[in-house]
Amino acid sequence: MESWNSTKSSELYGINEWGNGYYSVGTSGNVQVHPTKDRGKSLDIYELVSTLKRRGIELPVVLRFDQIIESRISEINNAFRAAIEAYEYGNRYRHAYPIKVNQQYQVVRAVQDAARNFEGALEVGSKPELIAVLAMLDRRGEVLLCNGYKDAEYLELAILGRKLGKRTIIIIEQPYELHEVLRVAEKVGVEPELGFRMKPLSRGVGKWEGSTGENAKFGLTSLELLNGARYLQQVGKIHCLKLLHFHMGSQVSSIVAIKRVMREAARMYVEVKKLAPDLEILDVGGGLGIDYDGSKTNSDCSVNYSVEEYARDVVWSIKTVCEEEGTPVPEILSESGRSTVAHHSVLVTEVTDVSIGKPALDFEPPEDKEHARAQELWQIFQSMSVKNLSESFHDAMSIHEECFSAFMQGNVGLDERAYVDSLFRATCVKAKLLSKQARRTPEELENGEKFFRDTYFCSFSLFQSLPDSWAINQLFPIMPIHRLNDEPNRRGIIADLTCDSDGKIDRFIDVKEIQESLPLHELSLEDPYYIAIFLVGAYQETLGDLHNLFGDANAVHVDIDQNGKAVLKTIVEGDTVREVLSYVQYNPQELIEKFRFSIETALEDESVTPEQAADLTAKFKRSLDGYTYFVK
Ligand SMILES: Cc1ncc(COP(=O)(O)O)c(C=O)c1O
Repeated sequence: MESWNSTKSSELYGINEWGNGYYSVGTSGNVQVHPTKDRGKSLDIYELVSTLKRRGIELPVVLRFDQIIESRISEINNAFRAAIEAYEYGNRYRHAYPIKVNQQYQVVRAVQDAARNFEGALEVGSKPELIAVLAMLDRRGEVLLCNGYKDAEYLELAILGRKLGKRTIIIIEQPYELHEVLRVAEKVGVEPELGFRMKPLSRGVGKWEGSTGENAKFGLTSLELLNGARYLQQVGKIHCLKLLHFHMGSQVSSIVAIKRVMREAARMYVEVKKLAPDLEILDVGGGLGIDYDGSKTNSDCSVNYSVEEYARDVVWSIKTVCEEEGTPVPEILSESGRSTVAHHSVLVTEVTDVSIGKPALDFEPPEDKEHARAQELWQIFQSMSVKNLSESFHDAMSIHEECFSAFMQGNVGLDERAYVDSLFRATCVKAKLLSKQARRTPEELENGEKFFRDTYFCSFSLFQSLPDSWAINQLFPIMPIHRLNDEPNRRGIIADLTCDSDGKIDRFIDVKEIQESLPLHELSLEDPYYIAIFLVGAYQETLGDLHNLFGDANAVHVDIDQNGKAVLKTIVEGDTVREVLSYVQYNPQELIEKFRFSIETALEDESVTPEQAADLTAKFKRSLDGYTYFVK
C-alpha cells in the first residue's frame, strides 16, 4: 500500500483550493505560509508556533501576515487597472477599506501602508470609527467615506476633517441626514462633499442578501433619492453631491447577481448625474467574496468568480450603461473588506484533550445474570447481521429506552445502566457498519456519522475568536498544521473551552459537500497537537465576545524577510484575567482583599498552614495577570 504523504494531506484538506496561493503543505508535513505568494519563500507555521511557545507566547494565538494584506490590495487594484485598460475605461479605480471588517490598529496600519502605491480610502460606519480614522489619515487629500448613523457631533467632526486636508465624503443613508448635514455644515462654515446611498432592488446572493431590496436597513429608495437631489437643487447645494453608493451585502457568491446589481447602480448613476452634474464617483460597496471552501461555486462559503472577473464585470457594466446614455464614466470605488483581510489571519489552537467517540466493539457479556436488559441487549448485539439489521436495531433501541425508564423509577442501578448505555452505542456503530451492505438503513442511522467521531477539545473560545461560526454557521477551513506526512486516521469535531454546548464546530468545508467531522490524528502523549483555523481576518475579532470571560487571544504580526526568515513585527498580548474582570466591573484590588479575608479566616480555623496561605495568595495574584485560556 502506498504510504501517506504531504500531497495526500493537501488533497484531503483542500488547502491548494482555499489557500489561494498563501498556504500549502510542505514536504516536511507542516503547513507553510507564503505571505508574498512567492512559492519559493515560505514560513513553516508549526515552527513559528513552537518558537512563540518557547518565548512564552501561549496558544491560542492569532498569526497575522501583513504581507498578505499587501498582496490582496495589489491584486484588487491590479485587477481593476487591467480591466480599465482592457475596456479603455476613461476613469480610475479607488480601493476603500471599511474598517469595521477588522478595526485592530495594526491591521488598519497595515492596510494604509499597503495602499501607499495606489489610490486608497478608508470607510467608517460609526463615530468611534470616525474618530480613530480622522487621526490616522496622514496624507493630504486622502478619502474618508463616512457611513452609518450620524449625530451632530459625528457630522461636525467629519465636515471639519476637510479643514485638516482630508477628503471626507458624508454618505446620506437616511433622509433626515441630509437636512442635518447641511445645517451642521453651515454652522461650521465648511462646504461638505456628499454621497447618496441607494437601495438597489436587485438582490445579492448569499447570507447577506437582505442588504438590498426595499426593506434593506440602509439606503434611500428611488423616491427618496429623487427628492434628496431636488432638495439639494432647491437650496443651491447640488454641486456638493459627488458620490453614489450602494452595498449589495457581503460575500456575494454569484457573479450573475453582481452583474445585475451593477447595471441597476450604473443606470441610477446616469439618472442622478442628470440632476447633479458634479457627481463623479460610483461607490460599489463591498460584496467581493472569498472562497472559504475552495469549491469555486456559488455556495454560501464560496464564490464562482475571481477578483479579475469581478473587476471586469464591474468596469464593463458601468461603461456599457454610461455609453448607452452618453454619460462620462465615473471614478469607480469599491469598499472591499473581506477580500482584503480575510486571508491574512490564522488562529492556531492546541488540543487539550480528546474524548473518544467510537466505542470498542469487543464487548464482554454482562457479568450479572440478574441484569435482564443488559443480557437481552448483549444477545441482540451478538446476533445482529445484515439480514436482521432493522429489526435488531429497533429492538436494541427499545431496550435502551426501557432501561432508562427503569433507571428513572429506581428499578435499575448505575452499573446496569452504564453497561446498557455503552453497549447500545457499540450496537449503533455495528449497525452503521452493517448498513453499508444492507439494502435498507434504519432511518435513525442515516446521520450516524456521529457515532464514529471523537471530540477534540481545543484551547480557544468560539464566541471570542470565531463568532460567525456560532452565529451564522459560517464555515472556515480547519486543519492540523503538522504531522501531515502521517495519515489522519481519526475523525473528530472541535470543541472550545467555554462551558456552552454551542461552543463547538461540527460542520467542515469540503469541495464536494459539507462534512460533519474532520480527519485528525490520534493524540500523542508526548507531543502537542496544533490545529489552525484559516481565513479568519475578516469580521471575527471585534465581533467576538467575552463568553465565560475568555478574552482576546494573543496576536502576532509576522513578516517574511529577504532571506526567508520570520520577523516578529508586533506582539499584541491577549487579555489577562485582570483585564477581562475589569471589563465586567470587578475591581482586581478589591478581589485580592476579599480573597485575603478568606485566607485570614482559614488561618484562624487552622484549615490552612501559614505556608499554604502564602502560597495560595501568591497563586491568586499571579493568576490575575495570567492568560485567560488553558495553559499547559
Ligand atoms: C457599507 C458597507 N461597505 C462595505 C462593506 C464590506 O463588505 P465586504 O466585507 O463584503 O467587502 C460592508 C459590510 O457589510 C458595508 O456594510
